Amino acid sequence: MKDVNVGICGLGTVGGGTFNVLERNAKLIAGRAGCRIQVSRVASRRHRSDIQLGNIPFSTDIYDVVQDPDVDVVVELIGGYDAARELVLAAIAEGKHVVTANKAMIAVHGNEIFEAAKEKNVIVAYEAGVAGGIPIIKSIREGLAANRVNWLAGIINGTGNYILTEMRAGRDFEEVLKEAQDLGYAEADPTFDVEGVDAAHKLTIMASAAFGVPLQFERAYTEGIGSLTPYDISHAEALGYRVKHLGIARAREEGLELRVHPTLVPVNHMIAKVDGVLNAIVVDGDAVGQTMYTGPGAGDEATASAVIADIIDVARSVSCGSNQRVPYLGFDTDSIVDHQILPMDEIRSAYYLRIQAYDRPGVLAKVASILSEHGINIESIMQKESELHDGRIPVIILTHTVQERQINQAIAQMESLPDVEGKVVRIRAENFV
Ligand SMILES: NC(=O)c1ccc[n+]([C@@H]2O[C@H](COP(=O)([O-])OP(=O)(O)OC[C@H]3O[C@@H](n4cnc5c(N)ncnc54)[C@H](OP(=O)(O)O)[C@@H]3O)[C@@H](O)[C@H]2O)c1
Repeated sequence: MKDVNVGICGLGTVGGGTFNVLERNAKLIAGRAGCRIQVSRVASRRHRSDIQLGNIPFSTDIYDVVQDPDVDVVVELIGGYDAARELVLAAIAEGKHVVTANKAMIAVHGNEIFEAAKEKNVIVAYEAGVAGGIPIIKSIREGLAANRVNWLAGIINGTGNYILTEMRAGRDFEEVLKEAQDLGYAEADPTFDVEGVDAAHKLTIMASAAFGVPLQFERAYTEGIGSLTPYDISHAEALGYRVKHLGIARAREEGLELRVHPTLVPVNHMIAKVDGVLNAIVVDGDAVGQTMYTGPGAGDEATASAVIADIIDVARSVSCGSNQRVPYLGFDTDSIVDHQILPMDEIRSAYYLRIQAYDRPGVLAKVASILSEHGINIESIMQKESELHDGRIPVIILTHTVQERQINQAIAQMESLPDVEGKVVRIRAENFV
């Protein structure tokens, strides 16, 4: 059986991990793939003295990999949007299969890339782009292929989960973010992590594979964790909920909800127990019910595990002669339906509200009457007498599920009451039923 030659573009964290695991487990991987998988060329901006490339040709020009006729699979690990897109499209044009860990590129340029790949009958595999080492794309596209997916929800950014876990102990967002940077969990520029952009990239990809819709990153709603306080996190706990930064995709008759935001989840739900830098995704399928996938969402060898699983898949397909064993998004191209992504006003959720009210008679009644006017039922309400301060007192409310438009209208009305000070804090809540 023919050897499969791999060309690695980008010898950074994931590139280095991929090279090392491919070398270390070469025999085992060959046994699983049914052929030898060897790195035949590497390109990256700089040489790394800690990686023993031996006789493998190295260059600083990533296009040397694309143009090498001996390379069967181009492994794109340079990151970013545009340079990666151009590299991948060039590889496809050369008839090469592509394996990538780049969620940003797939979420934004995936439709174009898959179309080009289909035309050339080559594989583009991207497991490592979503939740690092967790095989969630394989689970959705293959393991759960019998199911109509009702919804999926995931902790898909380890940095954000680490920060929220630490904030439960009463620590401030800024302090924990700095610690996450010092520990190497968060990037020097942590914007994508804490504002939910990175999670929205991954959610976009999972949702397309789960629901058979085109990739629509630009329509995903994104809200970060920067304005959360230990105060609200502890009040949520008192109500029996934990705050997690979730990516949620839910199929509704009217369209698809696609949203990333801080979310209250019941403390007894399995996803509430996923702490630190770990990732986890719950998928609710009509046949199987709820399944959860958890593990490391980042790291050199954890991510390499997913990159190499994709390389093995390509190698198996190449050896057995069929490149399209699994379609790019798990759905035949003709079955991908442009189901509309719902505007945030139309999503349905429960809500945690914290109102800073003046301690006057009748305030609670006014707030309750506004909620009732908008058809919003209250699950629980707490007035924190012990926290009366300067004549103001926090009122904490958990609502039943309603449409976001209703809650927005009610919040605007509450904020205009002379008895209410400042903005109402609002965090969405999910009961996962
Ligand atoms: N790190 C993780 O745990 C993780 C997990 C899941 C997915 N990913 C994804 O995997 C990809 C790679 O991430 P990473 O953490 O390995 O990044 P990284 O450590 O920054 O590695 C990227 C490497 O590519 C090189 N490079 C970038 N642009 C290049 C170009 N135009 N020509 C030649 N070399 C170029 C970089 O060189 P310089 O260093 O000189 O710039 C660097 O060596 C990204 O898409 C990322 O989102 C990462």
